[in-house]
Amino acid sequence: MNQFDNQREFRNALGRFATGVTVVTTIGPSGKAEGITANSFSALSLKPPLILWCIGKSTPTYKSFITCTHFSVNVLKADQLDISRRFATASHDKFAGLDWREGAGGVPLLNDSLAAFECEFYANHEGGDHSILVGKVYNFSYTDGAPLLFNAGKYEKMTA
Ligand SMILES: Cc1cc2nc3c(=O)[nH]c(=O)nc-3n(C[C@H](O)[C@H](O)[C@H](O)COP(=O)(O)O)c2cc1C
Repeated sequence: MNQFDNQREFRNALGRFATGVTVVTTIGPSGKAEGITANSFSALSLKPPLILWCIGKSTPTYKSFITCTHFSVNVLKADQLDISRRFATASHDKFAGLDWREGAGGVPLLNDSLAAFECEFYANHEGGDHSILVGKVYNFSYTDGAPLLFNAGKYEKMTA
């Protein structure tokens, strides 16, 4: 028996790396707004301005993201747990009744996020059962506020 036979244990170890929570959005091939909760977001490069995130190859929205030209990354605030749950659950229209707008490149942007990065699709790298998607940021915004956190498989709020 090796350490990786129990995938749960490996996931538990990875989950000890606390992160923020984002919702990544795009417009799918049929013109529909699509989005997914992701905590694999990371800064990548300042010059050129690049960010990355990873998407599971078996995720229903995988095809939409792998073929898109633009996407946006919306960093969630501490009080946006319901939005994180909504975008982590498969549904026909995750945007129904939600407060959002169209960004400059046509991608959906959540209103009232902590930060938002509007990106052009820059590169797609192989990553096992995930793909690493790199975006070139052409517009960004941010505000002050407490972030929603994800740690050891649970949502948390920052304490001073
Ligand atoms: C906190 C959190 C972080 C997540 N991060 C990722 C991620 O980085 N990449 C990914 O592919 N799925 C991630 N997921 C899972 C997706 O959000 C989930 O599979 C979602 O249902 C995908 O949407 P879809 O079923 O409409 O494709 C995360 C889920 C949660 C709750």
